[in-house]
Amino acid sequence: MSSKLPFNVPFLAGKELAYISKCGETRILAGDGPFTKQCNALLEQRTATRKALLTHSCTAALEMAALLLDIQPGDEVIMPSYTFVSTANAFVLRGGVPVFIDIRPDTLNLNEVLIEDAITPRTKAIVPVHYAGVGCEMDSILALAKEHNIKVVEDAAQGALASYKGKALGSMGELGTLSFHESKNLISGEGGALLVNDPEYIHRAEIIREKGTDRSRFYRGEVDKYTWQEVGSSYLPGEIIAAMLLAQLEDADTITSLRMQVWNKYHAMLQKLEEKGSLRRPIIPCECTHNAHMYYVLLDPSIRREHVLKEFQAQAIHAYFHYVPLHSSPAGRRYGKTCGALPVTDSLSEQIIRLPLWCGISEEQQNRVVSLIEKFC
Ligand SMILES: Cc1ncc(COP(=O)(O)O)c(C=O)c1O
Repeated sequence: MSSKLPFNVPFLAGKELAYISKCGETRILAGDGPFTKQCNALLEQRTATRKALLTHSCTAALEMAALLLDIQPGDEVIMPSYTFVSTANAFVLRGGVPVFIDIRPDTLNLNEVLIEDAITPRTKAIVPVHYAGVGCEMDSILALAKEHNIKVVEDAAQGALASYKGKALGSMGELGTLSFHESKNLISGEGGALLVNDPEYIHRAEIIREKGTDRSRFYRGEVDKYTWQEVGSSYLPGEIIAAMLLAQLEDADTITSLRMQVWNKYHAMLQKLEEKGSLRRPIIPCECTHNAHMYYVLLDPSIRREHVLKEFQAQAIHAYFHYVPLHSSPAGRRYGKTCGALPVTDSLSEQIIRLPLWCGISEEQQNRVVSLIEKFC
């Protein structure tokens, strides 16, 4: 029996437990304490954004974005169908209608060329999802959004510390969202952040995140009491989460470079199979600096994915596929609509396999993964 090879092993950079135990000493446990403030400041510095606000997930940050944009029933939001459910769900919670468009065959990001046809008088926002930490074609998306007076919310859940033309993912639209879920590069168990790039939204973002109150202003001494100001919720994480995250953010470059070594090794090992035509490796456009969030292969359609996955399972190697495209999911059909056919989404979502990738995976383990794929090619 082969030894188990996990898909992901959360990585501790070193200072996490010391920082967490500090919360025990200071007894500062609720949100927006010193650790949260340091995380926000570091995120602002690393992403060059006006305001970063930690949230308890990227899902929460997306929900905040929908509230900030004042999405009303029937408002349309253009996004790829090939994404995680939260991208759409956050807007559906407000009565918004996700309008799914196809992805580009190279990066699997939403195809910017298809956006214009999806725009209607009800379009309120475009949500580019930076798949696998590789930037969408933001220049075209931002230009189109400006021309049509539409807001841009970047779903950069997978994009921490990656960039497009030197700009951090999440820092280019009016709003951006990050995830620090344990499956991401920088982690706090569950966790996320809202990046507020348009200063017009900062004041309301603080209110929405604090149950709809101006408590943040009260803590800063700007008002003498805090009251209910508008619809909001509790989107801020406690200090233990922030303590964990700060340790990760402080060592973010080390974490990224460890992941990059693994990513590059897969890329080199799989080159021959790509040349043979058995699979396609990820493509990184020259204007993008990725963060080694994910390594995937797109199998040639002649290779049956279920056979490969079955063999992975037999050898106790955890490799997965995702996503079931939202336009073909039960809720996606109920709450969303598509603009045109989505052939690239339909076909690539059937061909993709994500390989185990984590800091510390050994060369021998990577060899096992690649040897298994070779067997089918
Ligand atoms: C593209 C995308 N958006 C949103 C999310 C939600 O992130 P979280 O788990 O932090 O809520 C994910 C999580 O995997 C994601 O991949």
